[in-house]
Amino acid sequence: MLILDILSPLLLLPLLLLGYGCRAADIPEDTTSEFSVRLYHQLQVAGGQDNIIFSPLSVAVALGMVELGARGASLAEIRQTLGFNHLLPGVEFSLLQNLTAAVSNDDAHCVIRFANSLFLQEGIAFNPEFLHLMRKYFRAQVETVDFSQSAAVAEQINSWVENQTESKIRELLSAEDFSSVTRLTLVNAIYFRGSWKNQFRPENTRTFSFSKDDGSEVQTLMMYQQGDFYYGEFSDGSQEAGGVYQVLEMPYEGEDMSMMIVLPRQEVPLASLEPIIKAPLLEEWANNVKRQKVEVYLPRFKVEQKIDLKSSLQGLGIKNIFTSDADLSAMTDGKDLYIEKAVQKAYLEVTEEGAEGAVGSGMIALTRTLVLYPQVMADHPFFFIIRNRRTASILFMGRVMTPEVIEPNDHDFDSI
Ligand SMILES: *[C@@H]1O[C@H](CO)[C@@H](O)[C@H](O)[C@H]1NC(C)=O
Ligand SMILES: *[C@@H]1O[C@H](CO)[C@@H](O)[C@H](O)[C@H]1NC(C)=O
Repeated sequence: MLILDILSPLLLLPLLLLGYGCRAADIPEDTTSEFSVRLYHQLQVAGGQDNIIFSPLSVAVALGMVELGARGASLAEIRQTLGFNHLLPGVEFSLLQNLTAAVSNDDAHCVIRFANSLFLQEGIAFNPEFLHLMRKYFRAQVETVDFSQSAAVAEQINSWVENQTESKIRELLSAEDFSSVTRLTLVNAIYFRGSWKNQFRPENTRTFSFSKDDGSEVQTLMMYQQGDFYYGEFSDGSQEAGGVYQVLEMPYEGEDMSMMIVLPRQEVPLASLEPIIKAPLLEEWANNVKRQKVEVYLPRFKVEQKIDLKSSLQGLGIKNIFTSDADLSAMTDGKDLYIEKAVQKAYLEVTEEGAEGAVGSGMIALTRTLVLYPQVMADHPFFFIIRNRRTASILFMGRVMTPEVIEPNDHDFDSI
């Protein structure tokens, strides 16, 4: 008798979305920063001169959801790559659960929301224990759909995503993403919105030239303020003048969340700083920035990216789940499931105030004659992370190679 394996593509969609600033509760320590940085390097190599934005924490949660259904080599590769090998088997689920609980927030100043959902093919028997653990650790909503009705399924999932991300992420999937052999789609969304602890005053925003690493210049809206932030100067280890770079950490309201900006000197392209970024260095920055008054020039920016996680994860050693050898037998009894797609879409918008209705704080007026404080002038490409300062979880990581570009006549300098 001949038995044919039926391919059952599974679509993994960490989906992510982000606005602005926040706070958290009590705290496990995130251990996935090594993974986050390695993933950044994968995207950097593939990314040319483009902006980058992704959510390491969201990818970790999505992989945790897959790991729950994985066995054998599929399981081992995920644990190894995410850095969970030092934990007893299964403890990572509780860790991810505690991290998402610690980071989640919902108040007037800050919203961080995780939303996980599983869309299952009608008529397929999934292991009840898998579904139970999925709800327990990831609070995953479970819905059954008929993937052969691909247009209807795409619409259903897209509206779920749109709803979870306050409409920042639309049209994530299309009918072509599904077929009659699709069995399962995992969607993981993060939504983040917050206000700066020290907001920028819109009346201090000016048109300004931003020098890209290819030597060209674009006009952007540059925000300005002088305020108390965490700041430090670091060296890449070389003796050259260009080897010194600045790190500025700007807290969001509540002080648990912050954005860290890493800026090389004007004449140094970001590409020469990127290779030295490693997990222990993130920690060194966090531990060594000091609270002090800083003059900050930061462009308004909006970054958005849809990432094919499949190739990046394969590059990091997670290969098995994408092949017909995948062992996802904890999900169903059959051995015919594998992951066909893994996509993450992220969005981040940085403006003067962030959340609507947030209070402004009094700022000192521009004094351009005397430079009394260190000056961070982000008028050229920079690296950033948005992290939780208590758990060290990295919600977002990326770089701005091109900020929000304005046409010269959009904003009359004199009228601002
Ligand atoms: C998660 O939190 C629970 C309840 O506080 C605790 O019992 C458990 O040990 C925590 N798990 C991890 C991995 O820290
Ligand atoms: C949208 O999300 C809200 C809260 O997250 C939920 O109460 C509501 O039922 C959702 N609506 C749809 C159409 O999914």
